[in-house]
Amino acid sequence: MPDYKDFLDLRDRTREELLATLNFAEQMKIDLKAGKGNPALTGKSLAMVFQKPSARTRVSFEIGMWQLGGYALYLAPADIGLGKRESVADIARVLARYNDGIMARVFAHEHVLELGRWSEVPVINGLTDYNHPCQVLADLLTILEHKGRVEDLKVAFVGDGNNLSHSWLNAAGRLDFRLSLAIPEGYDPDAETYSEAAAANAGVILTRDPREAVEGADVIYTDTWTSMGQEEEVAKRQAAFAGFTVDSDLVGLAAGDVIVMHCLPAHRGEEITDEVMDGPHSVVFDEAENRMHAQKAVLVELMGQG
Ligand code: CP
Ligand code: NVA
Repeated sequence: MPDYKDFLDLRDRTREELLATLNFAEQMKIDLKAGKGNPALTGKSLAMVFQKPSARTRVSFEIGMWQLGGYALYLAPADIGLGKRESVADIARVLARYNDGIMARVFAHEHVLELGRWSEVPVINGLTDYNHPCQVLADLLTILEHKGRVEDLKVAFVGDGNNLSHSWLNAAGRLDFRLSLAIPEGYDPDAETYSEAAAANAGVILTRDPREAVEGADVIYTDTWTSMGQEEEVAKRQAAFAGFTVDSDLVGLAAGDVIVMHCLPAHRGEEITDEVMDGPHSVVFDEAENRMHAQKAVLVELMGQG
């Protein structure tokens, strides 16, 4: 039996646990493509709490639960009023009385931690202002599929020191890939998260120069310059991130077989050009698909017992 209840942060798992989950996800994906279902969650339900919009997270969890024989309940931002209409602790205890698991996409990271503390059933983090562990788990699955390994690869993250950058740093603290972050001054990731990853992995570096970061990279990763909740900063951010667009010139500095990744939604012409998004190095739709396979592995691990 695993010694964890929730999936809130990649650092809650050991290297071996992360690799085992990825392995399980890969196997379930192969089985699904071969027409072999896995009804591991028959009769189980997942409450999905959203404080922010979503396409991939909602659809991949909802369809993933259905494929596993279970049910997923969508709760829109206006439905629950998490922390406003009702306290997070009360909602956690109420949802746990009806459901076998809770998935939450919230603003404050503290709110998923609180859900985890109060809920008697597993809680899965579907993105907070701090991190997005389900996304990077799916990204690692995509890298494994395309490269056969994660060890020794050079991953270049070009963009904002946001929730995705934090989950990449969290992953680098557990797995042996090199991580070069290219982030403009003023938009750095959380200092403690960065130092913890850099202390665990000598291959973690931060530069202001996207060209330096992508030099010889096996993976180029980018994300929006303006995350959900920061919409009023769009103009300021567009100016600050000038020169950080992943375009064909930048991709040309990476390894010849580099893969280009984006968690989506993409702002074409800002953090990534059409040419790169739709070009031969892009694996963005494999990545989107893998959200479902990676999360199914997490769901079965957490909710499959009993
Ligand atoms: N990548 C991702 O989480 O997409 P959504 O915001 O559409 O769920
Ligand atoms: N950094 C982005 C990721 C979206 C999946 C955001 O938080 O809006």
